Amino acid sequence: MEVSLSILTIDYAHIAEQLLPLEKELNYLHLDIMDGNFVPNISFGPAFVKSLKKSCNAIFDTHLMITNPLDYIQEFVEAGSDYITFHIEAASDVLKTIECIRSFGVHPGISIKPTTQIEDIEAYLPYVDMVLVMSVEPGFGGQKFMASAIEKVSLLNKQKKENNYRYLINIDGGINEETAPLVAPYVDLMVSGSYILNAPNPLKNFLKLKHI
Ligand code: DX5
Ligand code: ZN
Repeated sequence: MEVSLSILTIDYAHIAEQLLPLEKELNYLHLDIMDGNFVPNISFGPAFVKSLKKSCNAIFDTHLMITNPLDYIQEFVEAGSDYITFHIEAASDVLKTIECIRSFGVHPGISIKPTTQIEDIEAYLPYVDMVLVMSVEPGFGGQKFMASAIEKVSLLNKQKKENNYRYLINIDGGINEETAPLVAPYVDLMVSGSYILNAPNPLKNFLKLKHI
């Protein structure tokens, strides 16, 4: 199982030291971009992503929780994103946003909030490289996993097999050693933040998830 580490709850001033013990295992880094508008919280922007990219070799899995994502694609491409995932609820033109991301040679992804259903994104599934199912209300780390996400990743898995789609199935929010096994049969990777970073031994928790 691939684990995409969310740095949302990291100690930002000491990020390099905190990532160091995980560095060798880290294949994906999940970057939560929040604008205080689409979600009631503000995180960091492209300048921070760009500076991280200089010292981290992981695949940059950027999760835009912002309104009008199209307006910011280029900045997050230039910052070093490998995947750019935006919220279907926030985009005025979904296909145009997907195409814009791909035109820069970056992998496009779409994400859905807990109240949005798979049928609402069905039309876009052939065109994306990642589908990110939120298993918490976006905005904050450390929330409780919502079981309604299990059926969604299962359905995405079924559709992927039936139609030979290429998207990675990703899940975000409340992933820990108890909730990860519930979704592991269906997903390609899972985002985890507080379960890893707030642990006395982050590497141990990271590896626990990776070996599920
Ligand atoms: C929530 C973010 C998540 C969050 C995950 O809006 O998109 O990526 O940081 O953190 P945990 O694992 O603590 O739920
Ligand atoms: Zn996220």
